[in-house]
Amino acid sequence: MLKTILITGGAGYVGSKLVDYSLRQKLRVICLDNLVYGDKSIKKFIKNKNFQLFRNDIRDEKILKIIFKNKIDYVVNLASIVGDKQCKTVSKSAYDINYNGNKILCEYSVKYGVKKYIFASTCSNYGVSDPKIFATEKSKLFPVSLYAEAKIDAESFLEKYSDSEMEIVSLRFATAFGASFRTRFDLTLNSFTYEALKFNKIELFAKDSWRPFIHVNDMCLIILKVLENSKFKIKNDIFNAGFTKENFTKIQLVKKILKQLKKTQITFNHSIDDRRNYKVSFKKLENKFKPKVNFNVDYGIKEIKTMLQENIITEADVKENLLDNNCERLLKFFKF
Ligand SMILES: NC(=O)c1ccc[n+]([C@@H]2O[C@H](COP(=O)([O-])OP(=O)(O)OC[C@H]3O[C@@H](n4cnc5c(N)ncnc54)[C@H](O)[C@@H]3O)[C@@H](O)[C@H]2O)c1
Repeated sequence: MLKTILITGGAGYVGSKLVDYSLRQKLRVICLDNLVYGDKSIKKFIKNKNFQLFRNDIRDEKILKIIFKNKIDYVVNLASIVGDKQCKTVSKSAYDINYNGNKILCEYSVKYGVKKYIFASTCSNYGVSDPKIFATEKSKLFPVSLYAEAKIDAESFLEKYSDSEMEIVSLRFATAFGASFRTRFDLTLNSFTYEALKFNKIELFAKDSWRPFIHVNDMCLIILKVLENSKFKIKNDIFNAGFTKENFTKIQLVKKILKQLKKTQITFNHSIDDRRNYKVSFKKLENKFKPKVNFNVDYGIKEIKTMLQENIITEADVKENLLDNNCERLLKFFKF
């Protein structure tokens, strides 16, 4: 019998790719998503007999009771309001989904005998840290947004289940890039590449601030690696999820874009105050799970550039997924 994976937020940027990878790995997929950004990203899966969609909220216990009548092996909780500005825009719903949603889902997963539970957390939890030192899972957290605060609170809640039979893993992901079935253009690499191609210009603020980066495909491969690991058992644990050698400052990232889009001019904006600055060690994950960088930053730039040039990602797709449009869609969805 096929193993069953419940992917919440499965219609999102990461989720739609994880659905694809999971189906290819012969998992039966249940996708639970309230479709804040529509269902375009998952339409192609609807006819697949191993795919089932619930267009609902993760906090809806009536639906969870129906879903958990299935024997579910794995739960990956990606459902979230993602990003600092997005969370600020719908702050009440954002905290409730990002904290309480995870709590409810975890409680159901424990109750119904799920084997492994992955919570998608974020390196944003480190917020501001000394870039001379790599932040590790033991470093002090310094959230500078509601988004990170809710993720930290959600991670802490999971500690309550440290003694449960269910393996719980919080993955603090690096900043994602690359193409998906809902390619987000509010992410640094994707939006810089778009601006460089369309306007021959990148406006840069906080140019020396550090961030770790990871391709959306590598995020999915790490999730599946953790789920499919049978060599050792994990007792509720937290891992930074990314690659130590893929930490870059914004100006380093822009220089990589300049190599592929040579006409690009950089303008520096000193008026925007962005305090986020963190360089992260992924040694704990690298030592335990040995993930590979399959798709590096240079690949991601080329991928986005080519897909835009060949109109595989259209101007309409980009517009729909720019930061301000995502915030507008959130406002409409949650009817503020
Ligand atoms: N993209 C990144 O750079 C990044 C980095 C670190 C961590 N993460 C984490 O990975 C996960 C996925 O991020 P993403 O980039 O795919 O974001 P996304 O916004 O593209 O996807 C989130 C999905 O969750 C759904 N959703 C929101 N609230 C819901 C609710 N109450 N019930 C059901 N579904 C709901 C949305 O409709 C959307 O499809 C998030 O938990 C995010 O915090 C992402």
